[in-house]
Amino acid sequence: MLKNDAFLKACRKEPVEFTPVWIMRQAGRYMKEYRAIRKKVDFLTLCKTPGLVAEATLLPVDLLGVDAAILFSDILIPVEAMGMEVRFTEKRGPVFSDPVRSESRAEGLSVPGPLESEERMPFIPESIRLILKALGDRVPLIGFSGAPFTLATYMIEGETSKSFTWVKRIMYSDPGLLHNVLDKVATTVIHYLNMQIQAGVHAVQLFDTWAGALSPDDYREFALPYTRRVIDGINRGINRGITRGTRGFDSRGFPVILFANGVSGILEDMADSGAGVISLDWRIDIGDARRRVGGKAALQGNLDPCVLYSGPSVIKRYTRSILDKYGPGPGHIFNLGHGILPDTPVDHAKALVEIVHEESSRR
Ligand code: CP3
Repeated sequence: MLKNDAFLKACRKEPVEFTPVWIMRQAGRYMKEYRAIRKKVDFLTLCKTPGLVAEATLLPVDLLGVDAAILFSDILIPVEAMGMEVRFTEKRGPVFSDPVRSESRAEGLSVPGPLESEERMPFIPESIRLILKALGDRVPLIGFSGAPFTLATYMIEGETSKSFTWVKRIMYSDPGLLHNVLDKVATTVIHYLNMQIQAGVHAVQLFDTWAGALSPDDYREFALPYTRRVIDGINRGINRGITRGTRGFDSRGFPVILFANGVSGILEDMADSGAGVISLDWRIDIGDARRRVGGKAALQGNLDPCVLYSGPSVIKRYTRSILDKYGPGPGHIFNLGHGILPDTPVDHAKALVEIVHEESSRR
């Protein structure tokens, strides 16, 4: 039994006493305690050292009072397990040495099944077990994965891209190749998430960060079917007893949050994915989003991360506005519209959590 299950209740659109809040990238460089851990080890070593993963994961629970913890890791971990070599650089972020741009390169990708996932990423279930022990049922733990389209984007571009010219070149000139890559990634993600669920995470978030760069038609062809397959794969795993961790699960499915940066053109399609929660960026009015989704999913979001540069009174005004726009009734999880920025003052993140709790419990 969790002491604070407001987050899981909101995922299922059950009534809560206050709006639960957590922050994307809540353990990160804006915290001096995180920077102290990173002084000792590089980023990938941190992700693969369960003791340090648990330490990082717990920081925002202890320091900010958020209503959910999220496994400290990166969306590119399972891509490495598919046989791609990734480096994290200070300036350019993640870089792959041999991006996938041909059929022969795609054929060379490995698709780790349940056993290979455990063999190649043993630090994931080990970290989850350590985190659950350290949390002691205070708040739920969120697992995560990149969604297939966003992972394929990194595999094809080879690094973070602004214009996605390689993935789109292939999308329009050789769509079969892109589908082939997406198919392999989707299968990998299903096993990867079922491994996390089996180890005990209470919910999962799918980061489809770059899906908002697609036209709605292309979203329906290249992103949505694979996201759906992942969500079906998770629920099928649970129904067949392949995955044990059924906490928070009922006939409506395991709690899955689907995030994209730039949801407004694809919102109704995202709501058709089977995800119980849609995570919004800040460019959309959450009241409009609620009307458009029409009860198909709970909503998460959607404060502009830059509001946290201001101070408590401005944070309060913007927070109230989002709570007002969402309106009465359950099914809202407060969050930023994208990850917290590295130069955010920690006090402002802490103030946000307090303000969300205070303002929402008064209603
Ligand atoms: O939310 C959390 O606190 C959990 C941890 C988490 C990280 N990355 C830690 C991280 C999560 C959920 C992610 C997801 C992730 N990783 C995404 C999707 C979410 C999003 O922001 O859109 C993406 C696109 C990545 C890929 C990635 N990882 C990039 C582009 C970078 C470099 C940019 C940057 O911010 O430095 C990373 C590195 C990364 N992932 C850091 C952290 C804390 C910084 C690494 C460091 O300590 O130097």
